[in-house]
Amino acid sequence: MPSNAPIGVFDSGLGGLSVLQAVRALLPHESLLYVADSRFAPYGERPDSFIEQRSLAIGRWLRERGAKALVVACNTATAHGVAALRADASWPVVGVEPGIKPAAAASHSGVIGVLATAATLRSTRFADLLARHTAQGQRFLCQPGHGLVERIEAGDVDSPAVMALLDRFIEPMVAQGADTLVLGCTHYPFLIPAIQRRFGTALTLVDTGAAIARQLQRRLETDGLKASQPSDGRGSLQLMTTANAEALQTMADRLLPNAPRVQTVEIAGIAPHSPASQDRPSNLPIIPA
Ligand code: DGL
Repeated sequence: MPSNAPIGVFDSGLGGLSVLQAVRALLPHESLLYVADSRFAPYGERPDSFIEQRSLAIGRWLRERGAKALVVACNTATAHGVAALRADASWPVVGVEPGIKPAAAASHSGVIGVLATAATLRSTRFADLLARHTAQGQRFLCQPGHGLVERIEAGDVDSPAVMALLDRFIEPMVAQGADTLVLGCTHYPFLIPAIQRRFGTALTLVDTGAAIARQLQRRLETDGLKASQPSDGRGSLQLMTTANAEALQTMADRLLPNAPRVQTVEIAGIAPHSPASQDRPSNLPIIPA
């Protein structure tokens, strides 16, 4: 695979733009193909097998379009799809997971809130992550962010409805002594201004976008896949969505200098009428919605 080939990046929707932004900043020479699977968002309310199959379908599609590496810019798809994606060992696959480790290190009170999708919180990967990084005396309060992704996908990051959801999810954490909040879904960094407006400096917010970009950089170096500087100084960027282009375009125009026009694409692999619920019961300390 030529090192100037693009890197595929995908998310269930526009949340992965928060990761893409960090990758663009750290690795400006890399060309990127971004897919928002907004037709099927939110993944967080879908069955595990659905998320795995969509992740495989999008990974395959990006590979066929010449991607040299893959960034799963979605905690939910990483939780349920990254193992299957890594079964193809011929390209590096970098995933994203909630920042439990940095949060455990940052917290003074020992009480840490985690806001993530229901599907991420019920996953075995997340249970293992918590088990690995919970120090003695620390407590993680895990809250599914039901309803938030739908609002963000619609371009709404600060309406009264969003503020009401944030109050409902975060206030109980603060009341129990949380001083740190893990943003365990790549859509949630778009809520940082709203969270800060409501909770001020009471909470340290943990987002892993920049850490993922560094991890990608290490993988490209190890695998000899780093792009050389293109003649115009920057790698190219293609933005694609499986739904209406408008919402992704609006967010991209806000975040990325000279964002290209978003294209709508079709990626086969699961009928659109697949059932949207089936949750494995969780034994994690999840706050009821
Ligand atoms: N952005 C995704 C994540 O990081 C998923 C949101 C969703 O589709 O539920 O988990």
